[in-house]
Amino acid sequence: MSSLPRRLLVTSALPYANGQIHIGHLVEYVQTDIWVRFQRMRGHEVHYVGADDTHGTPIMLRAEKEGITPKELIANVWKEHKRDFDDFLISFDNYYTTDSPENEKLSQSIYIKLCDAGLIEKRAIEQAYDPVKEMFLPDRFIKGECPKCGAKDQYGDSCEKCGATYSPVDLKNPYSVASGATPIKKVSDHYFFKLSDPRCESFLREWTQVKTPLQTEARNKMKEWVGEAGDSKLGDWDISRDAPYFGFEIPDAPGKYFYVWLDAPIGYYASFLNYCQQKGLNFEEWVKPNTTTEQYHFIGKDILYFHTLFWPATLHFAGYRTPTNVFAHGFLTVDGEKMSKSRGTLISAHSVIESGFNPEWFRYYFATKLNDSMEDLDLNLQDFVARVNSDLLGKYINIASRSAGFLVKRFAGVVSDEAMDHPLLTEIRGASEKIAALYEGREFAKALRSVMELADKVNAFVDENKPWEIAKDSEREADLQRVCSVTLEAFRALSLYLKPVLPKVAEGVETFLSLKPMHWEDINTPLSSQHPIQAYQHLMTRVEPTQIDSLLAANL
Ligand code: MSP
Ligand code: ZN
Repeated sequence: MSSLPRRLLVTSALPYANGQIHIGHLVEYVQTDIWVRFQRMRGHEVHYVGADDTHGTPIMLRAEKEGITPKELIANVWKEHKRDFDDFLISFDNYYTTDSPENEKLSQSIYIKLCDAGLIEKRAIEQAYDPVKEMFLPDRFIKGECPKCGAKDQYGDSCEKCGATYSPVDLKNPYSVASGATPIKKVSDHYFFKLSDPRCESFLREWTQVKTPLQTEARNKMKEWVGEAGDSKLGDWDISRDAPYFGFEIPDAPGKYFYVWLDAPIGYYASFLNYCQQKGLNFEEWVKPNTTTEQYHFIGKDILYFHTLFWPATLHFAGYRTPTNVFAHGFLTVDGEKMSKSRGTLISAHSVIESGFNPEWFRYYFATKLNDSMEDLDLNLQDFVARVNSDLLGKYINIASRSAGFLVKRFAGVVSDEAMDHPLLTEIRGASEKIAALYEGREFAKALRSVMELADKVNAFVDENKPWEIAKDSEREADLQRVCSVTLEAFRALSLYLKPVLPKVAEGVETFLSLKPMHWEDINTPLSSQHPIQAYQHLMTRVEPTQIDSLLAANL
């Protein structure tokens, strides 16, 4: 059984406030949410926080284009993101914004502590500058002709046409995406976090290679950066940007702003602080060094460096605890290819709902693909229909309808208590700790496979016992009640195992079986004749293959 209640702070990456939530993002929020719901079912104290990541040049320029202020833009986007997360049953305890007073204060005080530790350095650097817009340009805002094949309108890092990689200075006839002007070089003071300082190097070597049980792939990647003592490849990190910039001003540095990636992870803490204030929780207790609380960050593999180098170093040298672990997942592809607007596979979360899809179909499907690795995962649309219809509905949901009818009609919804120690049920309950360990280790695909194997056994039990035949024999009333009771108790147990993935279905099951919200330990509390069940009501419908076509069309 679950040992002492653990105290967990859990986050998902903060989505940029300049675009919609798409199904790629959802992989991460669904993965985190399943894990969080599982931990809550185990009786642990869990706080799951998120926020929109609101700062930076792209957001500033998009607002300008739309003729609104950045604050108006991020307020609109926040509402959309929150709606999408609610639709997909992502159970954030607090969903906030990085553009908050809490975050501004925390970012500034962390920065000052890093200054006090002697880890911030001011240095003049030369950068691309847009003389028309009068602003420095991030790499993504410079385009030009590929130095290799001459293709027009290529970004400063790589060519989409020939695949060549290069740096922005190599582009021929470069122009600013913001104004079309030719960028010039301009010198300006920037603030750097000295990750190359020997203290940072040795801290990060220890943190990534010894202290933290990172995924093997992540640890190996970090090893390339932290190297051996005296030969680290960590460069200093440029944490400032010049005005105009939408973000927080750096204390005592007029016209200088924190680079968005400095205040974004601090946004995890700001969201949690905001939540602690609402709930009367002691924030300090969670974030001080040597706390016994745990802190986990779920992220995509593309933002690993920020979470396993910059973020722990920021925390450590500002006097905070560091993450207990960082869990990175791979990228979602659709039918084996990168999601693409022109194929209609850049599927927005909202379009899924608008096209009449049940969000739990996606939660289930993603869960059947998720494991503890950083490998990419594929949404195969044919396979999606098959898995949902044949596994989820055919194997699992169907069990309820196969047993509930007789119990309600013939036995007033009363189960047989003697049926509850049937060997099939003992076997299903016996899988509880194995399945729990799989959820704990983020091996959701394996957890669901185990559950579906049990569902196969339950269906085989029904097929062997043929309740529809027993029902014809008036002398076998007790048999009928027993078989249906075993089946329905099995259904309850499977529903409990699937509850982290299918919270809405589980809620329906709880109502239907007259149960209190199920916790993991309730696996050993069977249905009882004391609590007659309700009439069966539909828990979930099938996917119609034609829905897939309308979904793709909606995203073109
Ligand atoms: N704003 C940053 C994160 C800051 S965290 C302090 C960011 N935002 S994002 O909107 O681009 O991505 C949010 C999360 O979604 C990231 O963890 C990213 O890896 C994940 N995903 C974005 N596209 C994805 C797929 N196609 N597949 C799986 N995850 C994807 O990065
Ligand atoms: Zn090229």
